[in-house]
Amino acid sequence: MIPRHAPYEESADFTIGLKPIGEAAWLEGGETDPAARKDPLFATCREVVWGETPRSHTGQAEVLRLIDETLGPASHQPDLPDLYAAARRTPDDLVLMEKHDGAWRVSALSLCAPTFFTAHDVLGRSLAEIHGPVHGFAARFLARVERIFEGLRPGLILERRNWSLVNSDQSFTPDPAPIRARIGSIDPADAGFELFVRVERQTLRRLPQTGGALFTIRVWLHPLDDLLDDPPRLAAFARAWRAAPADFRDYKRLGLYDDLVEGFLRDHGAG
Ligand code: HEM
Repeated sequence: MIPRHAPYEESADFTIGLKPIGEAAWLEGGETDPAARKDPLFATCREVVWGETPRSHTGQAEVLRLIDETLGPASHQPDLPDLYAAARRTPDDLVLMEKHDGAWRVSALSLCAPTFFTAHDVLGRSLAEIHGPVHGFAARFLARVERIFEGLRPGLILERRNWSLVNSDQSFTPDPAPIRARIGSIDPADAGFELFVRVERQTLRRLPQTGGALFTIRVWLHPLDDLLDDPPRLAAFARAWRAAPADFRDYKRLGLYDDLVEGFLRDHGAG
Protein backbone atom coordinates (compact mmCIF):
# COMPACT_ATOMS: atom_id res chain seq x y z
CA MET A 1 0.00 0.00 0.00
CA ILE A 2 1.27 3.49 -0.79
CA PRO A 3 1.64 5.39 2.51
CA ARG A 4 -0.77 8.30 2.89
CA HIS A 5 1.67 10.71 4.52
CA ALA A 6 5.38 11.14 3.90
CA PRO A 7 6.46 14.18 5.95
CA TYR A 8 10.14 13.17 5.64
CA GLU A 9 9.84 14.35 2.03
CA GLU A 10 9.54 17.89 3.42
CA SER A 11 11.82 17.93 6.42
CA ALA A 12 14.37 15.78 8.20
CA ASP A 13 14.34 18.07 11.24
CA PHE A 14 11.91 19.33 13.88
CA THR A 15 9.60 21.84 12.30
CA ILE A 16 6.46 23.78 13.15
CA GLY A 17 5.19 23.03 9.67
CA LEU A 18 1.61 24.21 10.23
CA LYS A 19 -0.33 24.69 6.98
CA PRO A 20 -3.95 25.69 6.39
CA ILE A 21 -6.33 23.01 5.15
CA GLY A 22 -9.98 23.11 4.09
CA GLU A 23 -12.85 22.08 6.34
CA ALA A 24 -13.54 18.97 4.20
CA ALA A 25 -9.99 17.75 4.81
CA TRP A 26 -10.12 18.21 8.60
CA LEU A 27 -10.81 14.65 9.82
CA GLU A 28 -9.37 11.96 7.60
CA GLY A 29 -11.57 9.08 8.79
CA GLY A 30 -10.48 5.69 7.48
CA GLU A 31 -11.24 3.55 10.53
CA THR A 32 -14.54 1.70 10.52
CA ASP A 33 -15.19 1.72 14.25
CA PRO A 34 -12.82 3.85 16.34
CA ALA A 35 -14.93 3.22 19.43
CA ALA A 36 -14.18 -0.51 19.24
CA ARG A 37 -10.48 0.33 19.68
CA LYS A 38 -10.92 3.14 22.18
CA ASP A 39 -13.64 1.83 24.52
CA PRO A 40 -11.58 -1.09 25.95
CA LEU A 41 -8.71 1.32 26.67
CA PHE A 42 -11.08 3.80 28.29
CA ALA A 43 -12.47 0.96 30.45
CA THR A 44 -9.19 -0.66 31.49
CA CYS A 45 -6.52 2.06 31.67
CA ARG A 46 -8.41 5.30 31.94
CA GLU A 47 -5.63 7.31 33.57
CA VAL A 48 -3.37 6.55 30.59
CA VAL A 49 -5.84 7.48 27.84
CA TRP A 50 -8.12 10.05 29.46
CA GLY A 51 -7.90 13.22 31.54
CA GLU A 52 -10.11 16.22 32.26
CA THR A 53 -9.92 19.27 34.48
CA PRO A 54 -13.07 20.46 36.27
CA ARG A 55 -13.25 23.70 34.28
CA SER A 56 -13.10 21.96 30.89
CA HIS A 57 -16.78 20.97 30.65
CA THR A 58 -18.05 23.88 28.55
CA GLY A 59 -15.13 23.47 26.14
CA GLN A 60 -15.74 19.71 25.95
CA ALA A 61 -19.38 20.36 25.04
CA GLU A 62 -18.25 22.67 22.23
CA VAL A 63 -15.93 19.98 20.86
CA LEU A 64 -18.77 17.46 20.86
CA ARG A 65 -21.02 19.90 18.97
CA LEU A 66 -18.26 20.52 16.42
CA ILE A 67 -17.64 16.80 15.87
CA ASP A 68 -21.38 16.14 15.53
CA GLU A 69 -21.72 19.01 13.04
CA THR A 70 -18.81 17.59 11.05
CA LEU A 71 -19.74 13.90 11.11
CA GLY A 72 -23.51 14.19 11.40
CA PRO A 73 -25.80 13.83 14.39
CA ALA A 74 -25.39 10.84 16.71
CA SER A 75 -26.79 9.72 20.01
CA HIS A 76 -24.35 9.66 22.91
CA GLN A 77 -24.24 7.66 26.12
CA PRO A 78 -25.13 10.25 28.78
CA ASP A 79 -22.60 8.87 31.28
CA LEU A 80 -19.59 9.59 29.04
CA PRO A 81 -17.69 12.88 29.24
CA ASP A 82 -18.40 15.01 26.16
CA LEU A 83 -14.84 15.02 24.83
CA TYR A 84 -14.65 11.24 25.01
CA ALA A 85 -18.08 10.92 23.35
CA ALA A 86 -16.60 13.03 20.54
CA ALA A 87 -13.31 11.10 20.39
CA ARG A 88 -14.98 7.70 20.01
CA ARG A 89 -16.51 8.92 16.71
CA THR A 90 -13.17 9.57 15.01
CA PRO A 91 -9.81 7.78 14.74
CA ASP A 92 -8.08 10.96 15.93
CA ASP A 93 -7.14 11.63 19.51
CA LEU A 94 -8.62 14.91 20.76
CA VAL A 95 -6.85 17.43 22.99
CA LEU A 96 -8.75 20.43 24.35
CA MET A 97 -6.37 23.34 24.96
CA GLU A 98 -7.53 26.31 27.05
CA LYS A 99 -5.76 29.37 28.35
CA HIS A 100 -5.53 29.51 32.13
CA ASP A 101 -3.09 31.31 34.42
CA GLY A 102 -1.49 33.03 31.42
CA ALA A 103 -0.62 29.88 29.46
CA TRP A 104 -2.22 27.52 26.95
CA ARG A 105 -2.76 24.25 28.82
CA VAL A 106 -4.16 20.79 28.22
CA SER A 107 -7.60 21.09 29.72
CA ALA A 108 -9.00 17.68 28.72
CA LEU A 109 -7.84 14.92 26.39
CA SER A 110 -8.64 11.54 24.93
CA LEU A 111 -5.34 9.88 23.98
CA CYS A 112 -5.71 6.32 22.73
CA ALA A 113 -2.73 6.37 20.32
CA PRO A 114 -0.02 7.95 22.47
CA THR A 115 3.51 8.11 21.15
CA PHE A 116 5.44 7.56 24.37
CA PHE A 117 3.42 9.71 26.78
CA THR A 118 0.20 9.44 28.76
CA ALA A 119 -2.83 11.65 29.37
CA HIS A 120 -1.76 11.88 33.00
CA ASP A 121 1.70 13.22 31.94
CA VAL A 122 0.26 16.24 30.12
CA LEU A 123 -3.08 17.09 31.77
CA GLY A 124 -3.01 20.68 33.02
CA ARG A 125 0.45 21.27 31.56
CA SER A 126 1.39 24.29 29.46
CA LEU A 127 2.86 24.17 25.96
CA ALA A 128 6.26 24.98 27.48
CA GLU A 129 6.03 22.16 30.04
CA ILE A 130 4.78 19.55 27.57
CA HIS A 131 7.54 20.28 25.11
CA GLY A 132 10.32 20.39 27.71
CA PRO A 133 11.78 17.07 26.45
CA VAL A 134 11.87 18.22 22.81
CA HIS A 135 15.45 19.33 22.16
CA GLY A 136 15.60 23.02 21.25
CA PHE A 137 11.82 23.57 21.44
CA ALA A 138 11.92 26.49 23.89
CA ALA A 139 14.57 28.37 21.92
CA ARG A 140 13.35 27.62 18.40
CA PHE A 141 9.58 27.21 18.53
CA LEU A 142 7.80 28.04 21.78
CA ALA A 143 7.16 31.76 21.24
CA ARG A 144 5.93 31.17 17.69
CA VAL A 145 3.64 28.31 18.73
CA GLU A 146 2.17 30.42 21.56
CA ARG A 147 1.50 33.24 19.06
CA ILE A 148 -0.26 30.77 16.77
CA PHE A 149 -2.55 29.68 19.63
CA GLU A 150 -3.32 33.33 20.45
CA GLY A 151 -4.00 34.38 16.88
CA LEU A 152 -6.00 31.40 15.55
CA ARG A 153 -8.95 32.70 13.56
CA PRO A 154 -12.23 30.76 13.81
CA GLY A 155 -12.64 28.71 10.65
CA LEU A 156 -8.90 28.39 10.02
CA ILE A 157 -7.70 24.79 10.32
CA LEU A 158 -3.97 24.11 10.51
CA GLU A 159 -2.27 20.78 9.84
CA ARG A 160 1.21 19.48 10.66
CA ARG A 161 2.83 16.06 10.43
CA ASN A 162 5.85 14.49 12.05
CA TRP A 163 7.63 11.20 11.54
CA SER A 164 9.64 8.65 13.44
CA LEU A 165 10.58 5.00 13.23
CA VAL A 166 9.60 2.31 15.70
CA ASN A 167 9.62 -1.48 15.94
CA SER A 168 5.92 -1.76 16.72
CA ASP A 169 2.74 -1.85 14.67
CA GLN A 170 0.65 -0.81 17.68
CA SER A 171 -0.98 2.61 17.89
CA PHE A 172 -1.32 2.40 21.69
CA THR A 173 2.27 2.93 22.85
CA PRO A 174 2.41 4.96 26.07
CA ASP A 175 5.80 3.51 27.07
CA PRO A 176 8.81 3.09 24.76
CA ALA A 177 10.76 0.78 27.12
CA PRO A 178 9.21 -2.62 26.25
CA ILE A 179 9.38 -1.77 22.54
CA ARG A 180 13.02 -0.69 22.58
CA ALA A 181 13.93 -3.76 24.65
CA ARG A 182 13.02 -5.90 21.62
CA ILE A 183 15.21 -4.13 19.06
CA GLY A 184 18.25 -6.34 19.67
CA SER A 185 16.35 -9.50 18.75
CA ILE A 186 15.22 -8.27 15.30
CA ASP A 187 16.77 -10.28 12.48
CA PRO A 188 18.16 -7.74 9.95
CA ALA A 189 16.48 -9.74 7.17
CA ASP A 190 13.11 -8.92 8.80
CA ALA A 191 13.64 -5.14 9.11
CA GLY A 192 11.17 -4.43 6.28
CA PHE A 193 8.25 -5.81 8.23
CA GLU A 194 9.45 -5.37 11.83
CA LEU A 195 10.15 -1.64 11.54
CA PHE A 196 7.36 0.87 11.05
CA VAL A 197 7.30 4.46 9.90
CA ARG A 198 5.11 6.25 12.44
CA VAL A 199 3.51 9.48 11.26
CA GLU A 200 1.42 11.72 13.45
CA ARG A 201 -0.91 13.98 11.51
CA GLN A 202 -2.08 16.77 13.75
CA THR A 203 -4.57 19.60 13.34
CA LEU A 204 -5.37 22.73 15.28
CA ARG A 205 -8.44 24.95 15.21
CA ARG A 206 -10.16 27.54 17.37
CA LEU A 207 -13.34 26.76 19.29
CA PRO A 208 -15.18 30.02 18.55
CA GLN A 209 -17.70 29.92 21.40
CA THR A 210 -15.47 29.11 24.37
CA GLY A 211 -12.22 30.52 22.89
CA GLY A 212 -10.28 27.30 23.44
CA ALA A 213 -8.40 25.36 20.77
CA LEU A 214 -8.83 21.78 19.61
CA PHE A 215 -5.67 19.84 18.77
CA THR A 216 -6.15 16.49 17.02
CA ILE A 217 -3.59 13.72 16.62
CA ARG A 218 -3.98 10.88 14.14
CA VAL A 219 -1.35 8.15 14.00
CA TRP A 220 -0.53 6.41 10.73
CA LEU A 221 1.76 3.37 10.72
CA HIS A 222 3.19 1.36 7.89
CA PRO A 223 6.04 -1.16 7.61
CA LEU A 224 9.23 -0.04 5.89
CA ASP A 225 8.43 -2.59 3.17
CA ASP A 226 5.56 -0.38 1.98
CA LEU A 227 8.14 2.13 0.73
CA LEU A 228 9.29 -0.44 -1.83
CA ASP A 229 6.13 0.20 -3.88
CA ASP A 230 7.20 3.81 -4.34
CA PRO A 231 10.91 4.25 -5.18
CA PRO A 232 10.91 8.09 -5.02
CA ARG A 233 9.48 7.85 -1.51
CA LEU A 234 12.03 5.23 -0.52
CA ALA A 235 14.75 7.59 -1.76
CA ALA A 236 13.22 10.51 0.16
CA PHE A 237 13.10 8.41 3.32
CA ALA A 238 16.74 7.38 2.85
CA ARG A 239 17.76 11.02 2.38
CA ALA A 240 15.88 12.15 5.50
CA TRP A 241 17.26 9.27 7.55
CA ARG A 242 20.80 10.34 6.70
CA ALA A 243 20.21 14.10 6.85
CA ALA A 244 18.42 14.21 10.21
CA PRO A 245 20.42 16.41 12.60
CA ALA A 246 21.89 15.04 15.83
CA ASP A 247 19.23 16.62 18.10
CA PHE A 248 16.41 15.06 16.11
CA ARG A 249 18.16 11.67 15.93
CA ASP A 250 18.85 11.64 19.67
CA TYR A 251 15.33 12.71 20.61
CA LYS A 252 13.72 10.05 18.38
CA ARG A 253 16.40 7.48 19.25
CA LEU A 254 16.98 6.79 15.56
CA GLY A 255 20.49 5.52 16.33
CA LEU A 256 18.94 2.41 17.86
CA TYR A 257 17.73 1.45 14.39
CA ASP A 258 20.68 2.59 12.25
CA ASP A 259 22.11 -0.84 11.44
CA LEU A 260 18.69 -2.29 10.62
CA VAL A 261 17.60 0.65 8.48
CA GLU A 262 20.91 1.00 6.64
CA GLY A 263 20.85 -2.74 5.90
CA PHE A 264 17.28 -2.45 4.58
CA LEU A 265 18.17 0.55 2.40
CA ARG A 266 21.25 -1.19 0.99
CA ASP A 267 19.30 -4.37 0.24
CA HIS A 268 16.80 -2.32 -1.75
CA GLY A 269 19.12 -0.17 -3.77
CA ALA A 270 18.96 2.97 -1.64
CA GLY A 271 22.39 2.42 -0.09
C1 HEM B 1 0.18 23.10 17.25
C2 HEM B 1 1.34 23.45 17.67
C3 HEM B 1 2.40 22.45 18.05
C4 HEM B 1 3.61 22.31 17.50
C5 HEM B 1 4.18 23.14 16.35
C6 HEM B 1 4.27 21.22 18.18
C7 HEM B 1 5.53 20.78 17.90
C8 HEM B 1 6.13 19.67 18.43
C9 HEM B 1 7.39 19.14 18.02
C10 HEM B 1 8.31 19.75 16.95
C11 HEM B 1 7.61 18.02 18.74
C12 HEM B 1 8.77 17.05 18.60
C13 HEM B 1 8.30 15.85 17.80
C14 HEM B 1 7.86 16.25 16.41
O1 HEM B 1 8.69 16.28 15.53
O2 HEM B 1 6.67 16.58 16.24
C15 HEM B 1 6.50 17.87 19.64
C16 HEM B 1 6.38 16.87 20.56
C17 HEM B 1 5.33 16.76 21.43
N1 HEM B 1 4.18 17.53 21.44
FE1 HEM B 1 3.84 19.15 20.32
N2 HEM B 1 3.44 20.73 19.13
C18 HEM B 1 2.29 21.44 19.10
C19 HEM B 1 1.19 21.28 19.91
C20 HEM B 1 1.08 20.32 20.87
C21 HEM B 1 -0.05 20.18 21.74
C22 HEM B 1 -1.31 21.03 21.73
C23 HEM B 1 0.21 19.14 22.55
C24 HEM B 1 -0.72 18.67 23.62
C25 HEM B 1 -0.80 17.42 24.03
C26 HEM B 1 1.52 18.61 22.19
C27 HEM B 1 2.15 17.54 22.77
C28 HEM B 1 3.39 17.07 22.43
C29 HEM B 1 4.02 15.97 23.12
C30 HEM B 1 3.46 15.17 24.30
C31 HEM B 1 5.24 15.78 22.50
C32 HEM B 1 6.29 14.75 22.90
C33 HEM B 1 7.09 15.35 24.04
C34 HEM B 1 7.99 14.31 24.69
O3 HEM B 1 8.87 13.79 24.03
O4 HEM B 1 7.78 14.04 25.88
N3 HEM B 1 2.01 19.36 21.16
N4 HEM B 1 5.61 18.88 19.44
